[in-house]
Amino acid sequence: MLINIKNNWELPESMVTSESVYRSRRTFLKSLGYGLGGIVFSPSYLNGANIGFSTELNPLYVLKELDLTPYNLITSYNNFFEFSTDKEGPKKLANKGWNSEPWMIEVRGLVRNPIKMDVNDLIKKIGGIEQRVYRMRCVEAWSMVIPWNGFPLSKLIKLVDPTADAKFVKFTSFIDPGQAPRQRRRNIHWPYVEGLTLSEAANELTFMGTGLYGRAMPNQNGAPIRLVVPWKYGFKSIKSIVKIDFVSKAPINTWQALQPREYGFFANVNPNVSHPRWSQATERIIGGGFFESRKETLMFNGYEKEVGHLYYGVDLRKFY
Ligand code: MTE
Repeated sequence: MLINIKNNWELPESMVTSESVYRSRRTFLKSLGYGLGGIVFSPSYLNGANIGFSTELNPLYVLKELDLTPYNLITSYNNFFEFSTDKEGPKKLANKGWNSEPWMIEVRGLVRNPIKMDVNDLIKKIGGIEQRVYRMRCVEAWSMVIPWNGFPLSKLIKLVDPTADAKFVKFTSFIDPGQAPRQRRRNIHWPYVEGLTLSEAANELTFMGTGLYGRAMPNQNGAPIRLVVPWKYGFKSIKSIVKIDFVSKAPINTWQALQPREYGFFANVNPNVSHPRWSQATERIIGGGFFESRKETLMFNGYEKEVGHLYYGVDLRKFY
């Protein structure tokens, strides 16, 4: 019997119910013959619309309660501290004149083929975009399910070809205090910085997001390009990246520098280790209704099969 075996991390379509716009887009795609499953788009669709679900219902899969977060919530409840510390602030303040187009990105350091080019040219060089529906779990104990478009970071790693000395990848966000009001304050050492080990960066789940719901990335969600690391707390998924450095030593990420007792380098989602000020055992589902529903938080945010092996020998009882 031929069974279509999906990647473990793919959320079956039956698990993600969507807003009506998205459903009708899918129907449209089907009518064009795109069907479902592993869609990779040609460069003419860069940053554009027309992406359907890349997952199929697998009858052998045990369904969990997990709905796709509507577009309007994903784009109006944000953490983007360069602009605001309110959840509603980034949508307003990141669209007041801040321009994420054109956008140069530089990939450099311990690599054989460094790159410095416009993001759209990079996407073309990578060979187009695909879609990933991922859970996102914030360290503040709330969660969403988001259909990203973009490309796996592993493709970029292949392109730049790291040398044997490269052990970590450091990501740096933009700096523009003229447009990003909170960068005028000195309580955080700007620009926002994040880091991964090279093996985390090369994992099949690690994704460079260039949009969501088949549309270009909204400014407030990290236009035009951001990291998406679904098994780690959301603060690892750095937005609006201008620089990626391959380095030999672990970079100190922004939150770790601010409060090392509360925010570590790994920051893997772990329901068994409380934040010093709150439990991480459950999470509030954004859009879960007036008495917002909670669900149990899963180890590695549910991606243990795919990433657990990266942490053999690491003491996960500590808050990393
Ligand atoms: N990246 C930058 N540059 N600045 C930020 O403030 N916040 C992080 C992360 N990436 C942040 C960032 C945090 S705390 C979270 S939870 C996610 O972005 C939120 O992503 P979202 O607003 O798209 O949901």
